[in-house]
Amino acid sequence: MRKLIAANWKENPRSEKRALELFKTTAKAANSPRAKKTTDVVVCPPFVYLEEIADAYRKLKPATKRNLAIGAQDAFWEEKGAFTSEVGPKMIRSLGARYVIIGHSERRKYLEETDEMINKKIKLALKDGLRVILCVGESLPIRRRGIAAAQSFVKGQLKKDLKGVRGVKNVTKSNNGSLIIAYEPIWAIGTGKNDSPEDAVEMARFIKKTLKKVRVLYGGSVNSADAQSYLRYNDIDGALVGGASLKAAEFRKIITLS
Ligand code: PGA
Repeated sequence: MRKLIAANWKENPRSEKRALELFKTTAKAANSPRAKKTTDVVVCPPFVYLEEIADAYRKLKPATKRNLAIGAQDAFWEEKGAFTSEVGPKMIRSLGARYVIIGHSERRKYLEETDEMINKKIKLALKDGLRVILCVGESLPIRRRGIAAAQSFVKGQLKKDLKGVRGVKNVTKSNNGSLIIAYEPIWAIGTGKNDSPEDAVEMARFIKKTLKKVRVLYGGSVNSADAQSYLRYNDIDGALVGGASLKAAEFRKIITLS
């Protein structure tokens, strides 16, 4: 089973030039024989670089593009209109991007994004033909109460975020794999304190039991030294990588080892 490794650049890097360089080295790594055989790679830059990177993407050889795609880190729930600074899924698609991350815990925390907002975003993004990477995950106080408490929290998030999303009970079949869940325990993001692979796979299995057939990624401080300990499980379909995706050599190792 191929793995999906998504690079979430967050608010990085600091210039367009650096973003393009990072994209080119990432594309080169994705094009290595090992990565081509085992891994699909999605690069999610900040909106401000998306056009330039989509342009660089378009110029790549078709064979290079086969296991590489571009995504956005968010998309609004309205197509267009008087919504200052927002970007709709159709705009994202028009650049050639195919994926969007929705419901990242940093947006839930700093932008106070609610499950209702996330639900509306998912519905429009799927309708407009983007593949959605929905992020879910519990906080540390919840996790301290045990894995069952974490599972119950994640189940609640999935229920609210996916309310009324068509075909969600059998996502892979009816939506053709267009909904992907990233399990990212909040306390593991950007902290260097990963979840244990055993607990992560248990959660991945729980999510698959809840949603049937959906692909599940693990995210939270993944690096080249530990990526394999997650990816070796069939039930972990890939990783959402933040910090390590900004270091070309590190990210190359992650995508060529999987
Ligand atoms: P991290 O971020 O790899 O830096 O922990 C992952 C994410 O937030 O998607």
